[in-house]
Amino acid sequence: MVPLNKFMRRQGKGLKRKIMNQEKKYLTTSEKQTFNLGKKLTNTFKGGDILALSGSLGAGKTIMAKGIAAGLGIKKIITSPTFVLMKVYSIKAKSYKLIVNKLVHIDCYRILNPQEIIDIGAVEYFGRPDTIVVIEWAEKIKNILPRQIIKINIKLKKNNEREIIIN
Ligand SMILES: Nc1ncnc2c1ncn2[C@@H]1O[C@H](COP(=O)(O)OP(=O)(O)OP(=O)(O)O)[C@@H](O)[C@H]1O
Ligand SMILES: [Mg+2]
Repeated sequence: MVPLNKFMRRQGKGLKRKIMNQEKKYLTTSEKQTFNLGKKLTNTFKGGDILALSGSLGAGKTIMAKGIAAGLGIKKIITSPTFVLMKVYSIKAKSYKLIVNKLVHIDCYRILNPQEIIDIGAVEYFGRPDTIVVIEWAEKIKNILPRQIIKINIKLKKNNEREIIIN
């Protein structure tokens, strides 16, 4: 039998390890590196994933979204959907795994109320196995997001450095 305090300690360690495993940290020093990171990360995503991007103005959320789009084989130029709130891109590249055939890019910067996102029908794309959703300023709609999301926070550091934390 394991003494309770030892047991608790073990549990604690396990939990800490679990949390640490879930969180991934990256440091980029240029726009290109952030783009390439997004592109590379695509391998770890699957249909139904919701990528919640946060970080201050000019942090690099759109650059990251562009990298993700490139990773999914989207050739079109990705521009931030600041005014239209949402853009839907179709994924034609056969090489992309699974049945993902859409990337939905949402930008919540200008919204005053999460209801605006519901009104444009964006929520219907959440969790769909054929769709990956990328959301800029996702923290503004956190009360309408499913619990299972992939959070990507981009922190502005000095010069062109960005710390990117994924959990
Ligand atoms: N390491 C870096 N990663 C990403 N972008 C960088 C980096 N260093 C400098 N930049 C610059 O920062 C800017 C990031 O712009 P971007 O539009 O992606 O930000 P954003 O977070 O989407 O802003 P907004 O909140 O306005 O939507 C670009 O001008 C880019 O060139
Ligand atoms: Mg942006």
